[in-house]
Amino acid sequence: MTFRATHLLGIEHLHPTEITTLLDLADRYADQGRRGQTHRDVLAGLTQINMFFENSTRTQASFELAGKRLGADVMSMAMQATSIKKGETLIDTALTLNAMRPDLLVVRHPQSGAVDLLAAKVQNCAVLNAGDGRHEHPTQALLDALTIRRAKGRLHRLSIAICGDVAHSRVARSNILLLGKMENRIRLVGPPTLMPAGINEFGCEVFDDMRAGLEGADVVMMLRLQKERMDGGFIPSEREYYHRYGLDAEKLAYAKPDAIVMHPGPMNRGVEIDGTIADDINRSVIQTQVEMGVAIRMAAMDLVARNLRAARGRKAVGVEV
Ligand code: NCD
Repeated sequence: MTFRATHLLGIEHLHPTEITTLLDLADRYADQGRRGQTHRDVLAGLTQINMFFENSTRTQASFELAGKRLGADVMSMAMQATSIKKGETLIDTALTLNAMRPDLLVVRHPQSGAVDLLAAKVQNCAVLNAGDGRHEHPTQALLDALTIRRAKGRLHRLSIAICGDVAHSRVARSNILLLGKMENRIRLVGPPTLMPAGINEFGCEVFDDMRAGLEGADVVMMLRLQKERMDGGFIPSEREYYHRYGLDAEKLAYAKPDAIVMHPGPMNRGVEIDGTIADDINRSVIQTQVEMGVAIRMAAMDLVARNLRAARGRKAVGVEV
């Protein structure tokens, strides 16, 4: 099994075998977590810095927990409150970081491409993208893939409907790339105003009707209406949006009877999803997604750290893959 990447910047750069390697390791971390075996020392002696230039609950907490469970020294910088407000450039941030000598750098940034830029400027350090603008959110797509694989027993030839605000969603973009690489059938469902430009190049089927889009789906993935990225009237009203595109029992009935319901969080209950569906443990895997998030971030940091150590010419001390 292989994993060559030294950074985790996006799904775009990963080979399907690297994705499988990562999922397999995360699967083991998830099983160990369920058995209460949460702590290892594969990142002992390494410093992990989390820099979130944008709000986050799940992603930041799970990267922090993952690092601690693997024995890293973890520090989270409150970036929103500090330098970005003072207008510090990313280049200056990179220089500061080079002086601090972190080993693992976890970055979320509101601008697409900012994490790639930072990765090019920091020295001797593995960078993990925790979401950049509308571009990519690789660990979210990986945790979604692991959740699907555990629920469905496979990650290929599934019919997966990604619904809602696709245009503003890095989660959708990374999922389209990952699920496409694993040869699934992807449908994008939502109002035309919330579909990205050049949608036809994505190789997905596109629907503006929920019932037609969900027909026979194995997986229904709902997206949050990303109001903070909208600069105009993309939808008539939230009420109207819920009526046409909100997932409720009536629309879900068009999917397969054993279809699972996913949402990356945070959820707008009563806007893109009915609260009862979100809480239905027979259909919703939303809490499993959060659980798999910790395991995926453990696996991702473990694998890039091995490559970092190898690149530094030191012997890796990681668990066997
Ligand atoms: C997503 C994000 O930040 O891109 N959330 C997350 O990481 N769990 C999706 C969203 O904000 O809607």
